[in-house]
Amino acid sequence: MAQKKLIRFAEITTFKNVLQYPEGTAGKWHEYFNNSNPIIVELACGKGEYSIGLGQQYPDKNFIGVDVKGNRIWVGAKKALEQSMEHVAFLRSQIGMINAYFSPGEVEEIWLPFPDPQLRISKTKNRLTHPIFLRKYKQILRPGGYIHLKTDSPVLYTFTKLVIEAYGLILHEDSNDVNKELSDNKALQIRTHYESLDIANSNRVHYLKFSIIDDLDTSKDDWLLEQVKLIEKKTTDEQTDYETN
Ligand SMILES: C[S@@+](CC[C@H](N)C(=O)[O-])C[C@H]1O[C@@H](n2cnc3c(N)ncnc32)[C@H](O)[C@@H]1O
Repeated sequence: MAQKKLIRFAEITTFKNVLQYPEGTAGKWHEYFNNSNPIIVELACGKGEYSIGLGQQYPDKNFIGVDVKGNRIWVGAKKALEQSMEHVAFLRSQIGMINAYFSPGEVEEIWLPFPDPQLRISKTKNRLTHPIFLRKYKQILRPGGYIHLKTDSPVLYTFTKLVIEAYGLILHEDSNDVNKELSDNKALQIRTHYESLDIANSNRVHYLKFSIIDDLDTSKDDWLLEQVKLIEKKTTDEQTDYETN
């Protein structure tokens, strides 16, 4: 393993704003932050640009960046420490485990900036807007809490719109080109590392803001996969998946 990674792994164990695979956090986040402000979670946070950027825009809210990669979390956590951002923390774990870390309704909003699009059809279930994940988010979100997806992948954008429609989710905002259509939205101007890479080579950022009211019908999941096979078979072959190692 590269020396830099090893140093970062050792260092984050000393960071007071990083919790690695913690136990007993569910229902305790307000205690952790020592306030009763809303809790916003950034999933697949990488270097945590959204937790830091939104934390600067909203000092009266708490932000938790979640990612499995400690060397990436290190970047955001270090910045938060240097800027004395007591309302920003990082949680290292698998997103599939999210329900172990938050109690029902504890989270106000979820941000998903540039999650891996998981372009291979066999990986559809790993997309962070697949109903398998949305059912987990519904449990921890306050009723009607917003989910924000920002992506440069037309495949993930179209897939998520299909899920929103098929499962009866509430769509609040939909932009096919954030920089053209929503340039006055300050939160959407925060730039992440993967955004700057423009891996989809589309030079375009898509955004969806939606919420979940009813349970997502599990009997539709097989149908969803069939739709993906029909719609994506051609398009995904032509695109490059993210390299996130
Ligand atoms: C494409 S990167 C995006 C990072 C950041 N949001 C950005 O825009 O630069 C996706 C991130 O998701 C993380 N990730 C992917 N699947 C995950 C999972 N199941 N649990 C936790 N982290 C995950 C990866 O470690 C990686 O940092």
